[in-house]
Amino acid sequence: MVVSAYERAAGDDIDPRCIPQRLREKVPVGDEITVPDYTEQDHSNWGHLFRRQLDLLPGHASDAFFEGVEILGMNKHRIPDLSDLSQKIFNATGWKIARIPGLLHESDFLKMVSQRIFPSTDYIRGVSELDYTPAPDCFHDMFGHMPLLTQPAFADYYQMFGQASLKAKGSQRIKLERLHWFTVEFGLIKTGADNGIYGAGILSSKNEVGHAMSGGAEIVKFSTDRITSQDYDVWRLQPTLFVLDSFEQLVTEFRAWAEAESLLN
Ligand SMILES: [Fe+2]
Repeated sequence: MVVSAYERAAGDDIDPRCIPQRLREKVPVGDEITVPDYTEQDHSNWGHLFRRQLDLLPGHASDAFFEGVEILGMNKHRIPDLSDLSQKIFNATGWKIARIPGLLHESDFLKMVSQRIFPSTDYIRGVSELDYTPAPDCFHDMFGHMPLLTQPAFADYYQMFGQASLKAKGSQRIKLERLHWFTVEFGLIKTGADNGIYGAGILSSKNEVGHAMSGGAEIVKFSTDRITSQDYDVWRLQPTLFVLDSFEQLVTEFRAWAEAESLLN
């Protein structure tokens, strides 16, 4: 049986919020999503995280990320509305947002991604978890993932990833899990003379930004062969990261790999 990296790493002590759930009913998409009753504390937690990451990221995050934040009009004052983000992302790349209750079972997650729908939570971590939370929340989903969904080549890659994953079997699923980890969650891309962060797992984490940019991680040129044989540990700072020349490279090399594995035809 193939288990998720979270389940494998956590053994019996898994945080219940990190156990993937299967969707039992249809979830709202785009305009169907209503805004929760956020408290002032919720908005304040968002503001704290937003300011902290935006102070850290200049000179470290990719241009693509900053362009996305601008397109989405995110700010420190309040948690954005998912329906508004969905509309802006749709205008940029044709992707939409679905509101989901927590970590999804991978078959539900991949089905949505293959249809250009990004599943997002809309609740935010509590004050005690501002530095670290193992569970999904809307700061990670909105701030970490959504800016990149406004970028056309990345958006095309992500849909193709979802389509390929739906056909994957056995060891192919492990390889795709690694590709997702080292691109969508922990990817770097050449930005000027530097390596810019585009992975949501780094963008939304104070500790991962510091680690990635302080020489704490070995940085290797993007290679599908190398990534698909690189294991990772979700509970530790990443020792190895992979850097792209461009998102077009990601599209081209992923397509070639997936076609060779008979996952896109
Ligand atoms: Fe994520």
